[in-house]
Amino acid sequence: MSSSDKRISDDIEQSLNQQMMNEAFQAQAYLALASWAEVNNFAGLADFFYKHSEEERNHMFKFLEYINARGGEARITGIPAPLDNPANVEECIERTWQHELDNSKKIYALVDQAMAEKDWATFNFMQWFVKEQIEEEALIDGLRDKYALASKEKNSNANLYSFDRDLVGASQEGDIPRDASLEG
Ligand SMILES: [Fe+2]
Ligand SMILES: [Fe+2]
Repeated sequence: MSSSDKRISDDIEQSLNQQMMNEAFQAQAYLALASWAEVNNFAGLADFFYKHSEEERNHMFKFLEYINARGGEARITGIPAPLDNPANVEECIERTWQHELDNSKKIYALVDQAMAEKDWATFNFMQWFVKEQIEEEALIDGLRDKYALASKEKNSNANLYSFDRDLVGASQEGDIPRDASLEG
């Protein structure tokens, strides 16, 4: 492909490449947390982070495909090592929250750059990530809320948490023997 086929600026190409590797770093960071959770017998948390690592890897691929589709070149580079293991579940969750807030800022910076260059194709491409970050922030904030409910007040909160979980997707029909009494 000749360089005249390139429809993104060198600056945008560089920023997209940087964000592609940020997503790769996130995938790796969440993979480390998943394995840590598994080793520490938190099967649910491990499952959550394995899946989330996969999502971040998909984000990385979206950038790769977009850069190449616009006549640029995706460049796979090294990424920083994930942080050391968290001390506990709370640190694990708070670290994730910070990762996502940081990542949202990076996404917004790319939107700013695309807008400043009037690169509307990239601006449009980035909207998917703006929306995705809204979802991810809500997801992790929900995880923080659940953790707080399960851990902050002592004594009865584990039961309260289980009680609340039971209500998720619970039927509105109830199991009262109404049909039996009407039909019986
Ligand atoms: Fe991501
Ligand atoms: Fe994310």
